[in-house]
Amino acid sequence: MPLERRSWAEPFKIKVVEHVRITTHEQRERAIAEAGYNTFLLRSRDVYIDLLTDSGTGAMSDRQWSGMMLGDEAYAGSESFYRLEAAVRRVYGYTHVIPTHQGRGAENIISRVLIQPGDVVPGNMYFTTTRLHQEMAGARFVDVIIDEAHDSSSEHPFKGDVDLNKLERVFQENPGRVPYVSVAATVNMAGGQPISLANMRAVYELAHRYGVKVILDATRVAENAWFIQQREPGQLGRSVAELVKDLCAASDGCTMSAKKDPIANIGGFLALNDAAIAEAACNLLVVFEGLHTYGGMAGRDMEAVAIGIEESIQDDHIRARIGQVLYLGEKLRKAGVPIVLPIGGHGIFLDARAFLPHVPQEHYPAQALAAALYLDAGIRAMERGIVSAGRDAVTGEERKPKLELVRLTIPRRVYTQAHMDVTAESVCEVFEQRESIRGLRMTFEPKLLRFFQARFEPRQ
Ligand code: F0G
Repeated sequence: MPLERRSWAEPFKIKVVEHVRITTHEQRERAIAEAGYNTFLLRSRDVYIDLLTDSGTGAMSDRQWSGMMLGDEAYAGSESFYRLEAAVRRVYGYTHVIPTHQGRGAENIISRVLIQPGDVVPGNMYFTTTRLHQEMAGARFVDVIIDEAHDSSSEHPFKGDVDLNKLERVFQENPGRVPYVSVAATVNMAGGQPISLANMRAVYELAHRYGVKVILDATRVAENAWFIQQREPGQLGRSVAELVKDLCAASDGCTMSAKKDPIANIGGFLALNDAAIAEAACNLLVVFEGLHTYGGMAGRDMEAVAIGIEESIQDDHIRARIGQVLYLGEKLRKAGVPIVLPIGGHGIFLDARAFLPHVPQEHYPAQALAAALYLDAGIRAMERGIVSAGRDAVTGEERKPKLELVRLTIPRRVYTQAHMDVTAESVCEVFEQRESIRGLRMTFEPKLLRFFQARFEPRQ
């Protein structure tokens, strides 16, 4: 048999297991009602397969766990920080490394350092925390992603690409008011869709022509690199490690949630090439996060992140990680379940508009679908639609995103192929019963990042 036709398996074996509880339908009915039909408010003991997020939920390796014992917990000058700094410089190539407690800590700092009230920040689709920090620093966010990204059925290979015409228009219409372009690798809200290396470089070149910086959200940059290796002309055969370096080289700095690619349970950093910006960031760091040699992480966490960074750029790791996502996605696609295509890097995104055409967007179809999926077999997913999009910062109106999605996010190295089979069966079962799913009414709405804690009740 030719090699590519043969089965593959993960490049690891399992050393430690954690038991999960299987609940009854009655228990789940009670649990989801108590959670106000918001999967964020479920207790994890009531969840069978947890696909809420790939953030901080990965299985650390034996090397990472042994690194935890080596953590240097000195308040200042921790050895663990210097190991983290060296790993970031080696793998991503930036000069200055500023540790933060997680990704949004880095987003807060860079937004406050670079943004003046009244500024405009263009980006390839928003991410919830990233945009909020930009807005809280006084900026207006403008989405400059290609139109295909908002179309769940478009099979464009790089739906994370920036539309260069849209970007240039933002520069021309707001001279002197664009501090940086916010570019994400594997765009989360678009369905885990990659940006091409050619587009990343073109964005950098265009931005620099207008004197504007580029800040990369590197949270899932290794996964993005794998898609470039697989799909981009001229890049086939290059290693994920090389491609990660190239992506980062087309930016002036990055924010990182080390809870994703680097498979740590907590942690993050801001990395920069400009010494003056790094100094300003360090100054704010001591106010919001901690000293510049720990920034909100314990020494042991910095060790786990440093080791995880190296593991995250191994080709065999990424191939298996994205291979598992593909396995689940292909099953659902073949069963006719409407999902975002192409299949993305960190999860499968159900298209709730196509799944529940009878539920209007104001009745929160994706939220209702996530609750229905939990009820069927205890699988926890996440709404990524109108609830996540929140309200316009100026008008207070609900934003109505084109994409109304439910994300089945696959944690790294945690679940088996059998878990994926069970998940696919449950989604198919819910799909068969889709006509009986009703929308929801919001009964409690938090002011900021409402999706985390909002509560709902079923509509009659
Ligand atoms: N950027 C992206 C693209 C993210 O997906 C996240 C987090 C962050 C920044 C913020 O990082 O959580 O460490 O503060 N995404 C998680 C998710 C929460 O479930 O997608 P953080």
